[in-house]
Amino acid sequence: MSKPLPPRRDTPLLRIDIVSVVPQTFGSVLDSSIISRARKANLVEINIHNLHDYGLGRYKQVDDTPYGGGAGMVLRPEPIFECVERLQSERQYDEVIFLTPDGEQLTQPVANRLSMATNLLLLCGHYKGVDERVRQGLVTREISIGDYVLTGGELPALVLTDAVVRLLPGAMGDSESALGDSFQTGFLDAPQYTKPAEFRGMRVPEVLQSGDHANIAAWRESMSLERTRQRRPDMLEE
Ligand code: ADE
Repeated sequence: MSKPLPPRRDTPLLRIDIVSVVPQTFGSVLDSSIISRARKANLVEINIHNLHDYGLGRYKQVDDTPYGGGAGMVLRPEPIFECVERLQSERQYDEVIFLTPDGEQLTQPVANRLSMATNLLLLCGHYKGVDERVRQGLVTREISIGDYVLTGGELPALVLTDAVVRLLPGAMGDSESALGDSFQTGFLDAPQYTKPAEFRGMRVPEVLQSGDHANIAAWRESMSLERTRQRRPDMLEE
């Protein structure tokens, strides 16, 4: 069941600008579910910028071969500087974030902090990477979504956007949902069930059907602790 949209805001809480060489990656994700709701209510404004619009010469070149040799192409600095500096001339960004596997790990506390920003600029690398001078001269923060290498920063930018936008007040419909998440509480979530009460011989635990809220809360707490102990003992050490 979809919840009614919150009233539309005059100005967004957060503006996210995303710079990419494959802007077509973003459409379907940004147009679905909670992100789309948040955009419709103007909690967040998201703008995608095609780096090719700032490309060099007749062919709108954005990349070139690496100095010193080697495979792959590297994004040239000029188009990125031009695009980012144009955006910066219009507003001040809290962070210019480059998505890269050698950045700081995206965690819930990082997402929490970023959700309090007003303007974020996300820079997606592609091919072999970006010219180092972009990182030196423009980027204020480098973020990785995990220890694996993707073909570009687009999916990481979407992951970051999703993690941040769902935290904006009003985005989730009921504000409790985001606060109760695994990694917000420091514990993994307890198992969830919906109807039917029995499915293929697997029954919903009696306590959840009892209507006894104190018992249900105690059961959830103990399941949550047990799950964390089994799957993520490292979280309990913290
Ligand atoms: N670009 C390619 N792989 C990435 C990753 N794991 N995190 C962030 N950006 C990336």
